Amino acid sequence: MKKHPFPILTPEEAARLIKDGSTVGFSGFTPAGAAKIVPSAMAKMATELHAQGKPWRIGVVTGASTGPSLDGALAAADGVAWRTPYQSNSTLRKGINTGKIVYFDMHLSQLQPWLRAGFLGKMDWAVLEVCDIDPDGSVVLTTSVGGANTFARLADKVILELNTKHPDFLRGLHDIHEPKDPPHRREIPIYSARDRVGSTVVKIDPSRIAGVVINSADDEVSGFDESTPVTQRIGANVAQFLAAERRAGRIPNGLPFQSGVGNIANAVIEAMAQNKEIPAFDLYSEVIQDGVISLLEQERISFASGTALTVTPEVLKRIYGNWSFFKDRLVLRPQEVSNSPEIVRRLGIISINTALEFDISGNVNSTHVLGRQMMNGIGGSGDFTRNAHLSIFTCPSIQKNGAISTIVPMVSHLDHSEHSVQVVVTEHGVADLRGKDPTGRANAIIDNCVDPQYKDILRNYLKFCGEGHAHTHPDKALIFHQAFMHQGDMRKAADLL
Ligand code: COA
Repeated sequence: MKKHPFPILTPEEAARLIKDGSTVGFSGFTPAGAAKIVPSAMAKMATELHAQGKPWRIGVVTGASTGPSLDGALAAADGVAWRTPYQSNSTLRKGINTGKIVYFDMHLSQLQPWLRAGFLGKMDWAVLEVCDIDPDGSVVLTTSVGGANTFARLADKVILELNTKHPDFLRGLHDIHEPKDPPHRREIPIYSARDRVGSTVVKIDPSRIAGVVINSADDEVSGFDESTPVTQRIGANVAQFLAAERRAGRIPNGLPFQSGVGNIANAVIEAMAQNKEIPAFDLYSEVIQDGVISLLEQERISFASGTALTVTPEVLKRIYGNWSFFKDRLVLRPQEVSNSPEIVRRLGIISINTALEFDISGNVNSTHVLGRQMMNGIGGSGDFTRNAHLSIFTCPSIQKNGAISTIVPMVSHLDHSEHSVQVVVTEHGVADLRGKDPTGRANAIIDNCVDPQYKDILRNYLKFCGEGHAHTHPDKALIFHQAFMHQGDMRKAADLL
């Protein structure tokens, strides 16, 4: 760690610099690399100000979701006026779904270009977790990049949370590249998951660094649940489908994979790694989770490019303990590069994401439970799905002990249209939608993916729709959701036909 000329502040001093109504860009993409002690101090200050009858609410911009010390603490203190681009915190979600917090859900690759274009207003402050600061204001980020490099450049003033937990050798993990904006944009010269095109540091004008707060907190990353028989079957179905695609010559060697986050995503990656017909592969993805680290160690994954190293503190220790192995196998990029549609299309990525529900036409809802309650957000799923060589969605066929079928006549909210979704997979099987018309897609989905309890209801719905190219009946398309809303069970949709 080098000597730097910037003032050291307490978290409380830093928090007091942020005025009511400010827009603040915090580092963090998932809890990885998220600012922690300054937002917690802001939340405490907000509670005190509110008790005195004074207002204090801010606009919160991050890379994606964060941890309890940021989203959780600020939402609990009623300190968030608006939020973008993604979240997954239960307290914040409650505020969003009760209309107290304005939430703008957007494709994660667009955050940085939209900030530069001014579409989201002016950024007053950036609060960034870093692990090293050079005297000229260059900083080394920690376990994520997200949008931090752009926040640092656009914000009027910057506060640095210097996290002393991370080793010096982290310099080199990051590849910071900020493309020019149209009409001057050139290609991002990445031609394989391993290419590096930028700088190892984020350069900040030193006159804008307001101060440094010392921190030593771990990332608030929790582990995942054990896989279940359902997630294992989903994983095995994806792996078998991909192996068959390889045999058929439709997946050339060397295409990288993108995988969403969560338990299903972990089970899918694990199943792919176990399938000996699938050679070791590269990830060009968003989030690098614990499971990926084990597979790098087993050399089933050869290289992982992402924007966040979202691993538990124990796994991070393992990575740092074996840095000579990991340093040539990991890179973290800004989210406009990790999720860049240009690169996804060029590299021919195979994308695998999770749906909340999908319909018999192949449309996917990733975000809104029963059409109204925001779950998390679209995240990077659209960036990858729309541009992938092969786009796959997975989910269990039922939820809530069968009272919910995740496959419905028409989705209650649309995130990914039938034009972008190529393959859907549940624990029952795989529906390959490529080259099929709406009737072909509906039959493939009902035959292969739907839970047996719901097959006849969906077949009867199709018959009810009668002639026509597509099957969106204005009277009956939402009977599954109506049945759940009024009777607590989608199986009752049978009575509504
Ligand atoms: N209708 C109603 N409720 C549903 C539902 C549906 N169709 N599908 C799921 N649920 C409920 C579940 O029952 C569960 O409820 P609980 O918390 O009370 O148990 C909850 O929603 C979460 O379901 P689960 O199956 O555990 O979801 P998950 O953790 O696998 O996450 C998404 C699924 C879609 C929410 C998550 O993948 C996501 O946010 N995706 C969008 C962003 C994304 O894809 N990012 C990766 C891109 S790089």
